[in-house]
Amino acid sequence: MKSRKHHIAVIPGDGTGPEVVEEGIKVLHAAAAKCNFQLTFTTYNLGGENYLSTNEILPDSVLKSIAKTDAIYLGAIGHPDVKPGILEKGILLNLRFHFDQYINLRPVKLYEGVYTPLKDKGPDDIDFVVVRENTEGLYAGAGGFLKRGTPDEIAVQESINTRKGVERCIRYAFEYCRKRNKEKKLTLCGKTNVLTYEFDLWERTFNEVAKEYSDIKTDYAHVDAICMWMVKNPEWFDVIVTDNMFGDIITDLAAMIQGGMGIAAGANINPGGISMFEPIGGSAPKYTGKQVINPIAAISAAQIMLETLGEEKGAQLIEKSVIKVLRDDIKDVAAGKMGYSTSEVGDLIAEHITTQTV
Ligand code: IPM
Ligand code: MN
Repeated sequence: MKSRKHHIAVIPGDGTGPEVVEEGIKVLHAAAAKCNFQLTFTTYNLGGENYLSTNEILPDSVLKSIAKTDAIYLGAIGHPDVKPGILEKGILLNLRFHFDQYINLRPVKLYEGVYTPLKDKGPDDIDFVVVRENTEGLYAGAGGFLKRGTPDEIAVQESINTRKGVERCIRYAFEYCRKRNKEKKLTLCGKTNVLTYEFDLWERTFNEVAKEYSDIKTDYAHVDAICMWMVKNPEWFDVIVTDNMFGDIITDLAAMIQGGMGIAAGANINPGGISMFEPIGGSAPKYTGKQVINPIAAISAAQIMLETLGEEKGAQLIEKSVIKVLRDDIKDVAAGKMGYSTSEVGDLIAEHITTQTV
């Protein structure tokens, strides 16, 4: 029988990260007690504060230690006193690459009672998933400067796309779409009219893999058009697969139509290894310590973590409770407008888990 013990590496990180992670852990404890599995947590002090005081970003010893855990639960990375890019690349991207988390999974679901800026659209219309490639493309860091700082300066940033990297992402998306079993429709998001090398590879791979999935309908849209349809007809989407950069951009748009950064959760997945779960919003420095930030994005990230660890029942309990609290309790999902503090929202969700019948 599969082990029902899971060891979680916790990286609370910067800003409001620690506050929301605390609520996620509270909710995880409630789910574990209800569904009879065990969780242990090891906390790693990484982020801007740690960097400023120790000059260390992500030591090898920490990577080795995290390698012994089953999953990573992350709050937020980003500090106003640290130059942009250092922590993002040094911690977040480094973890994604080191553990080969080649899928960035971002469910986009508008729950009942949550405000969407889209007129005349409701929960039935906004329910899709973006599968973003997470280790290649423009994020690979390939490129460089020539004659930097001179009038003849050249900056090159290359998008790296390997057949292996593209194919494993596309295969994951087809499998996910089949398992999700909604419309059974997978949309490739690209830019075949301009990025004629990168998306030639993506499109050929997509069409080849599609032959093995005759039950899945396939579709294609350019990234700019996807932005348009996501606002005009979000109900057209079931699962979208795309590269790293486009995935980054379209999922911020998607997060807004599902209610904003207080709600949006994501997972960095290595199907055979250690995955990492995070709210997709940032560290929100101006709200730090104020207990006003919405912990639901972090709590939903914990839900995806349980799903990935094989704790389906626990994951379902969390989602049901999130749905209830959003529908019946919280006034507004935005920071400071919930009608409850960060920890009270965690309490409400944990309580509802405890009192549900499994
Ligand atoms: C995200 C974030 C990161 C990304 C940043 C912080 C490096 O925006 O997870 O979407 O671009 O992937
Ligand atoms: Mn992003």
